[in-house]
Amino acid sequence: MFCIREAKEDELLNIAELEKLVFGSHAWTLSQLMSEWITGLSKFILAFVNSKLVGYLIFRQVDEEAEILRLGVKKEFRRKGIGEKLLKKAEELVITQGGKVIYLEVRKSNEPAINFYKKQNFSIVSVRKNYYPDGEDALIMRKVLKN
Ligand SMILES: CC(C)(COP(=O)(O)OP(=O)(O)OC[C@H]1O[C@@H](n2cnc3c(N)ncnc32)[C@H](O)[C@@H]1OP(=O)(O)O)[C@@H](O)C(=O)NCCC(=O)NCCS
Repeated sequence: MFCIREAKEDELLNIAELEKLVFGSHAWTLSQLMSEWITGLSKFILAFVNSKLVGYLIFRQVDEEAEILRLGVKKEFRRKGIGEKLLKKAEELVITQGGKVIYLEVRKSNEPAINFYKKQNFSIVSVRKNYYPDGEDALIMRKVLKN
């Protein structure tokens, strides 16, 4: 059974564990997740299959602009539409809060994610050279929401 909903504070540890599985050495730590949570500007969306956490999306919104900060789906659950469901839920919440546009940064080498976002109607709007600590470029992608 599939379920998607916003996270509660006591689930940040579970998110940190999944972050580690998904992003390895680039994962956000529990304290980074906590710092984001307490800004009060972010929403944490979780996807469950049979009550097990399999995916999450974190976005921050200020007025009309939202930014996807983290998105991950557990490896064995990928390409089943879970990423899309997380994104749709985020878009609904962004629109409810008066948002008009969503941005994100993605590593230039991250083809699965770039393809995913393109399929979801995001476009590449710019490149940030040497953006990541290891020197990799970031692509900035944007989607203008229709509401
Ligand atoms: C990006 C990510 C969240 C997508 O989640 P998902 O649940 O697999 O996505 P969906 O099933 O909703 O969408 C699948 C679509 O995305 C694209 N896609 C996903 N993985 C892909 C891959 N390995 N190669 C090419 N395209 C891929 C395709 O368009 C695919 O559609 P298709 O299966 O019909 O070809 C997932 O791959 C992931 O967790 N990656 C690691 C973390 C990450 O890179 N996060 C984004 C950082 S900005």
